[in-house]
Parts: sequence; structure tokens; C-alpha cells
Amino acid sequence: MEATASRFVSLLALCLLASMALMLGYYGTVELAVGPGCSRLVQASSVFVQGIKVSVDAGSQGSGGDLVLHGLPVAPPLDVPTEWPEARRVVVPANSHRQWTYFLNKGARLQAAYSVKSEDGVPHPLCIIIAQGESFMRWAEMPSLQNSTLFWRLVQGNGTIEQTVNLSSEYYIAVRNLNDHHDTTVQLEFRIRTLLYNTSGADYRCSPGPAGHGLCTYRLPFLGRNVAVLSSGHEERLNSDAQHVKLSYKPRWTVYVVGSVVLALVLLLLYEILDLLFGPCTGGGGGADRRRPLLADKEDDAASLGSSYDSVSHDGSDDREPEGRGEGGGGCVLCCDAPKDCFFLPCGHSATCYACGARIVEENGGCPFCRRKLKKVRRIFAV
Ligand SMILES: *[C@@H]1O[C@H](CO)[C@@H](O)[C@H](O)[C@H]1NC(C)=O
Ligand SMILES: *[C@@H]1O[C@H](CO)[C@@H](O)[C@H](O)[C@H]1NC(C)=O
Ligand SMILES: *[C@@H]1O[C@H](CO)[C@@H](O)[C@H](O)[C@H]1NC(C)=O
Ligand SMILES: *[C@@H]1O[C@H](CO)[C@@H](O)[C@H](O)[C@H]1NC(C)=O
Repeated sequence: MEATASRFVSLLALCLLASMALMLGYYGTVELAVGPGCSRLVQASSVFVQGIKVSVDAGSQGSGGDLVLHGLPVAPPLDVPTEWPEARRVVVPANSHRQWTYFLNKGARLQAAYSVKSEDGVPHPLCIIIAQGESFMRWAEMPSLQNSTLFWRLVQGNGTIEQTVNLSSEYYIAVRNLNDHHDTTVQLEFRIRTLLYNTSGADYRCSPGPAGHGLCTYRLPFLGRNVAVLSSGHEERLNSDAQHVKLSYKPRWTVYVVGSVVLALVLLLLYEILDLLFGPCTGGGGGADRRRPLLADKEDDAASLGSSYDSVSHDGSDDREPEGRGEGGGGCVLCCDAPKDCFFLPCGHSATCYACGARIVEENGGCPFCRRKLKKVRRIFAV
């Protein structure tokens, strides 16, 4: 009973730990880049999550001003087209890049008209890259390995590029100046067409901007199909960097705890069943039999036992039957193969065959039953 309880406790601890790890892996906090015109669906299982939290860094000026977290009872249709222009004139320093990040839903189209000028009249080409992801990471070093790249081209003079996206994700447009010495000025006119979620059916609206103290939490009812949509407007920003928001999930702890308890119980039951079916030497005489010290009736060995032998119980009332080969003693609990034919000193338990017992003594181990340290192992000769 005690062993079962402690087994259950360790199984429960294991299950709790595993569920925490799973939860953190699956519903951990993530930082999202929210570009202009973002409409991003946030889904979480209402069984495991009781709230979707969005927070913006209070430190960043004016960020989150046009950010809204919508809560909807069901996933809304992605069917509100929107299109806006962005005009930029940027100087790209030598061997450096500029980038703009957007969250685009599938079916979106990016168009960019460029006009590259160099100060000294000599044309220096720029590299324009459109790629999935939120940031330009040493792209120039290995463009061929970046399979997230949708488009890249060396450009100079005037021209237009266009790219459609199939997958709702973050994308960036970057312009890279590959020249080591000359800055290059580029005039860019973006035209971005994307689809937004129709959030007119939202039952929750919260702007995590300064008015909302930087934090919004949308509570998910248990077993509901609710989703959240994080959206931002697309008015011109001076700062071209995408703003970052933190998205986190509030775990439904009850589910984790109850689930862990149930799982631990199931595992324990499974363990007990397996133990019953395939446990060590089940053919043997059972637990009570195995635990009985064997020494009590072996007078002839007494001389070699030493003083510690006296600590072993000497009741000698009813255990006179020899416990050896094939006589109800069962097999060796270690190899489950050979019969028990030895006993340990000083504890007097008989649990293993002589070979296994000798090995335990060699390895300085303890008795498999009482854990007492073994000094000697003696062979039993059944007659
Ligand atoms: C492409 O990128 C994905 C991850 O985005 C990666 O799993 C896959 O192995 C990559 N394929 C190649 C050929 O590099
Ligand atoms: C390139 O476009 C700019 C405006 O974007 C225009 O002023 C310029 O004349 C154009 N240059 C050529 C060679 O077409
Ligand atoms: C987009 O989808 C089309 C087919 O619908 C496919 O041919 C094309 O390769 C896809 N593009 C990307 C970037 O996945
Ligand atoms: C959004 O959905 C509502 C109904 O839920 C509909 O009345 C409205 O026209 C939709 N808006 C757009 C732009 O499709």
C-alpha cells in the first residue's frame, strides 16, 4: 500500500512536470511583430487555455495606439479586402540594409515601385528581398539557403516588383546595399493589398495601448470555440519598424491538475496490471513468502554468522520448511531464471540464486528486500 502510494506520488509529479513542459512549449509566451494592416487570428484550445493576453511594452512611445484585440465566438471569415500605399525615401548606408515587416494573410499582394539613385551619378545596384519571417538575418551571406525567400533581385534605376503570398505569416521587404563604400538613396512606393478578418461580430474589443494599461485579456469560456483577432490600422508611421507585442496564454490550471491525476492513476493501474502479469517470478510463493528470513532454522551455519545474526528474528515457530530449490521458494528475483539457492548475511533474506547474490556482494550492493548492506552470501543445500 505504501509502495503504491509513493509510486502514485512520483507518477503524479512526473505527469505534472510533463504537462507543464508541454504547456510551455505549446502555449508559451511569444513576441509578435505587428506591422501596419495586420489582422492576425489567434487560436487556442479553450480546454487548456482560459485567456489570451496581449501586452505592449509600456516603454515604447505611442506603440499599440491602433492595436486592437477582438474576441469572437467563432473564427470570422477572412474576407475584408484592404489596400493602402506607403511611400518612402530612404538612404541605405554602405553595406547595410533597411527593412519593413508586415503580417500578411494568404492571398495578399505586395507591390513595390522603386527608383534607385546614387549620389555620385554612378549606379550602384541594391538588392531587394521579400521573405517570410520577421527580420532580415544575414541574408546576403547565404541567399540560396534561405528557402523562406519569396523574391530577391538586384535592381537599379526604376522598376516595379510584385509578390503574392500563399501563407498567412510575417513577411519583410528589405533593401540591402551591397556596396562597401557608397550610400544609396532609394525611393520606394509600396502598395499592399491584403485581406482582413471581418471582426464586426466581436463580443470583446480591447486596445492594449496606453489607455488599456498595455494589457488586454480575452477570456475563453470552457469548451467554447472562441478565437481572438489581433489587428492594427495602417496609417503612416514615422518609425518603419514593426511594433512588437507579447502574446501569452493563461493556462486553465484545473485541467492540467485533473488531467495529471487521471493520467497518473491510469499509469499506476497499468503498472499494477503489468506487475501482476509479468512481475518478477510470479510463479513463486508470493510476497509474504519471499520476505521471510531464511536463517531461523539453519543451525549448522550459525558458527559462521557472526554477531549480527542475533538481530534477526528467532521466533522459529512456523517457518521450518526449507526454502530452496523448487520448494515454494520460487525463482531468483533478479534473473528470474535460476531457483533461489542462497541467503544473505547479515539480514538472512533469501531472494536470489547464488550467482546473482555473489554479484550483489561484489558490487557492494544491498539486500533486494531490506536494503541492508550485504557482507556475505551463503549457498543453501536443500536435502
Ligand atoms: C526549408 O525551411 C523549412 C523551415 O521553414 C525547413 O524545415 C526545411 O528543411 C527547409 N528546406 C530546405 C531544403 O532547406
Ligand atoms: C524614375 O522614377 C522617378 C520617380 O519615381 C522619376 O522621377 C525618374 O525620372 C524615373 N527615371 C527614369 C529613368 O525613368
Ligand atoms: C503559391 O501557390 C501556388 C499554387 O497555388 C504555387 O504554385 C506557388 O509555388 C505557391 N507559392 C509559394 C511562395 O508558396
Ligand atoms: C462583416 O460581417 C457582417 C456580418 O457578420 C456583415 O454584415 C458585414 O457586411 C461584413 N463586412 C464586410 C466588409 O464583409
